[in-house]
Amino acid sequence: MTIRVGIIGVGNIGTAHALNLARFVAGSTVSVLYDVDQPRAVLLADELGARHVNTVAALIEADDVDAVLIASPDSMHAEHAMEAIAAGKPMLCEKPLAVGDANARAVVDAEVSHGSRLIQVGFMRRFDPGYVSLKAEMTPAGIGEALIVHNVHRNTAAPYGLRTEQTLTNMVTHEFDINRWLLGEDLTSVMVLPGKSGSLTPKGEQDPILVILQSESGVLVEIEAFCNARYGYEVQCRITGDRGQAVMGDGTWVTRSTDFIRGSQIPELWLGRFQDAYRLQLQAWVTALNTGSPLLGASAWDGLAAAVVSDRAIEAYRTGERVNIDLPLKPDLYR
Ligand SMILES: NC(=O)c1ccc[n+]([C@@H]2O[C@H](COP(=O)([O-])OP(=O)(O)OC[C@H]3O[C@@H](n4cnc5c(N)ncnc54)[C@H](O)[C@@H]3O)[C@@H](O)[C@H]2O)c1
Repeated sequence: MTIRVGIIGVGNIGTAHALNLARFVAGSTVSVLYDVDQPRAVLLADELGARHVNTVAALIEADDVDAVLIASPDSMHAEHAMEAIAAGKPMLCEKPLAVGDANARAVVDAEVSHGSRLIQVGFMRRFDPGYVSLKAEMTPAGIGEALIVHNVHRNTAAPYGLRTEQTLTNMVTHEFDINRWLLGEDLTSVMVLPGKSGSLTPKGEQDPILVILQSESGVLVEIEAFCNARYGYEVQCRITGDRGQAVMGDGTWVTRSTDFIRGSQIPELWLGRFQDAYRLQLQAWVTALNTGSPLLGASAWDGLAAAVVSDRAIEAYRTGERVNIDLPLKPDLYR
């Protein structure tokens, strides 16, 4: 069977997902596109031999859409996910699941009422070969029990303008999710330390920031987030365990030596660093839909957990206090 995917929002990532689905993902095709910027949807639809529609509802309800990919701006995800749940259609919803934990809870409640899992959240790092290899080191024969995790997340330029609270909900949400996934447990407290800002940081905002969390068993998780790092896009993760250390490679495949200098390219965007992860995520999603096997990626519950951590991190940033993170009771659907 071929899964016919309808895509809501065809900007940077929506277009990348569309091209991946059309070119590299077995068992899928892109059938329908919608974007408020209609010419953008028309252009891509023409390139892919898809059609475009004029409303979100027309896309979700279309007979030739088996599954929905939500790649609209952060603030629209919850609304679009609720519409797809109401139509009973499976979806890959870009991160974050929602802005604000109340909105994320509403999506989880709607999925629980529906009675089966429809949502995979686009936390694609769970499919990145680097992170997968890192997690494989966390065994008794490997680095042993994790004690401290150091994360670095740097953008070349602030992707959607720079507001510190959005850095937490849009950018650092990747680390909130991937550290829960790596450690296999929830995060229980958060502090956000402001410091000296870079020259491109708007007045009143903070960049870089340091986020320090603790997990259920007490593991310390430190995250440096720097939106305007300028030199390139870079993600690092280093785990210190009780019998060793594992450091994730930087995604570099080729080292070039010319003119007495040895080095490698740094990607400008997340698309370069995580190209394999995006493709593998889509393939796993489409394969699960095609075979009826469980979705492997982040669930709506994981999306809610990340949204709760983001909200508490905003509180920690505003107050300067260490803030506890309490999740609601996990519904059976996600156990
Ligand atoms: N998983 C990742 O690593 C990753 C990477 C990039 C972006 N994202 C997420 O994907 C989403 C899109 O990011 P982007 O970089 O592609 O942004 P973008 O601004 O390039 O694209 C967003 C698109 O959505 C369209 N749009 C705006 N309002 C809409 C609406 N109501 N309905 C339908 N379309 C609408 C815009 O016209 C635009 O084409 C964001 O939520 C972002 O956080 C995730």
